[in-house]
Amino acid sequence: MYVDGFAGPGEYTNHPIGSPLAALTAAQHAIELTGIRWIAGDVHCAFIEPDLERYKNLEQKIGSFDKPAMIVTHAYPETFTRGLESLKKDIPQPFSSQHPLFVFIDPFGATGVPFSVVAELLKSPCSEVLINLDADGIARIFQAGESAAHEKNLNEIFAGDEWKPLFDAGDPFEVLCRKVLQLYKTKLGHRKGSIRVSI
Ligand SMILES: C[S@@+](CC[C@H](N)C(=O)[O-])C[C@H]1O[C@@H](n2cnc3c(N)ncnc32)[C@H](O)[C@@H]1O
Repeated sequence: MYVDGFAGPGEYTNHPIGSPLAALTAAQHAIELTGIRWIAGDVHCAFIEPDLERYKNLEQKIGSFDKPAMIVTHAYPETFTRGLESLKKDIPQPFSSQHPLFVFIDPFGATGVPFSVVAELLKSPCSEVLINLDADGIARIFQAGESAAHEKNLNEIFAGDEWKPLFDAGDPFEVLCRKVLQLYKTKLGHRKGSIRVSI
């Protein structure tokens, strides 16, 4: 099961291939290259996008993608958290058993990805997440304070208030961004498995 939690429209005026099409193409190539040695069964690709205009374009791009029968697509016009719930109802196995699960989390900005959801995804021993973490955006929420509902948002982003004693209003912005990344890594480190970070 491959999930693109922030799928976007599937194409851009300055770039023809959005992440959903890149994933479908990669799956198609893997299946073609493996040929009759492919024993993994169906590859489910789920795409979540709440913006209806982008979703419509995405649906059209996915629909016109010429794919082998063993690639099965699912699309949800919902937010990441709601779309995941819908997907879990439709296909529960990858979320509760040993079926492989890969979730790509590529939001605009810092909100919409509660750490509790990430932790739940990582409960399975064969799940993996790729997160584009907006450390700058998270640091800006802290600096904006009440006007950015910082307490509620940061508690959701980190699933708790461990950020409180660590982040200091006097921290230079870059220091704050590094603290955000460090805390996120520490929280991920409490999960089993390995973490790789690229900045
Ligand atoms: C950075 S773009 C995704 C780009 C895409 N991964 C790509 O490479 O083509 C983020 C997308 O997330 C959508 N989005 C905004 N809030 C969301 C939410 N709460 N849950 C899921 N998607 C959301 C936006 O409409 C936008 O299309």
